Amino acid sequence: MQIIVTENYERSCEIAAKMIADVVRAKPDARLGLATGGTAGAVYANLIKEYREGRLDFSKVSTINLDEYIGLPPEHPQSYRYYMDHNLFNHVNIDKQNTYVVSGMGDIEQNVADFRRKVQEEPVDIQLLGIGANGHIAFNEPDSVLKEKAHVVELTESTVKANSRFFDSIDEVPRKAITMGIREIMSAKSLVLVATGKEKAQAVRGLIMGDVIDSRNPSTVIKLHHNATVIIDNALYELVASQKD
Ligand code: PGA
Repeated sequence: MQIIVTENYERSCEIAAKMIADVVRAKPDARLGLATGGTAGAVYANLIKEYREGRLDFSKVSTINLDEYIGLPPEHPQSYRYYMDHNLFNHVNIDKQNTYVVSGMGDIEQNVADFRRKVQEEPVDIQLLGIGANGHIAFNEPDSVLKEKAHVVELTESTVKANSRFFDSIDEVPRKAITMGIREIMSAKSLVLVATGKEKAQAVRGLIMGDVIDSRNPSTVIKLHHNATVIIDNALYELVASQKD
C-alpha cells in the first residue's frame, strides 16, 4: 500500500483527481468506481476543472457508485444519485446512461441483486474511497464480520451522526443503506483512498500503521490490495502518529 502525505487537504484532492484523470487519459472507456461525501466532492471539483480546461473527456467513461441510502428517491438532494448528478455528472460530458448508482427505492432485494450483477459486468479501473471516522469504507460498517457482496446495511449511530451534517435534522438521516461488499470493492484494479479530519485519526492509524486487518476497522482490508494508495494531509498524519493504539 502506498501512502502519500501532502501539505494539505486541497493537495490531497488534487492528487487523487490526477490519478483518476490519468486512468481516463490512458483508457478513454475506463470504468470508474465513485464515492460520495465531502472528500469525494472536492476530488470531483478538480475533475470538473480538468474537463473544463479541455484535458479530460468523459464521453466513453462509465461509472459505478459504492452505495445509496434506502428510502431516498433519486431527486432527493441527499440521495447519492442526486449527489453524483450535481457534484460531477451534470458538469462533464458523461453519458448518464453509463452511470450507475443503485436505487434505494422499490424492491430492495431486487436492487441488491441488480447491483451485484452490475459490479460483475466489468472490472473497475480505479476506485475512489473515503473513510468514515469509524473506519467504514462505502457503508461497510465495523462488525465482527465483513460481507463480500452488495448488501443492505443498518448504519451505525456514529455514521448517522456524521452524516446528519448534510440533513436538516438527525431524524431525517436514513438508518439503512445498500452498499457494495468488501470483495467487490477489492476487485477494482486500483484503489485510491483520501482521508482528512481529526475525527478520522484513530481509523487512519489502524489503516496505515501496524499490520492488523480488523473487521472492526473495515478500511484495514485495503492493505491486502496490490495497488492501493492512501492520501492524507500532514495535519492528519501528525495526529495519527501521535495517537495510541
Ligand atoms: P466524508 O465521508 O468524505 O464526508 O468525510 C467519507 C465516508 O464516510 O466514507
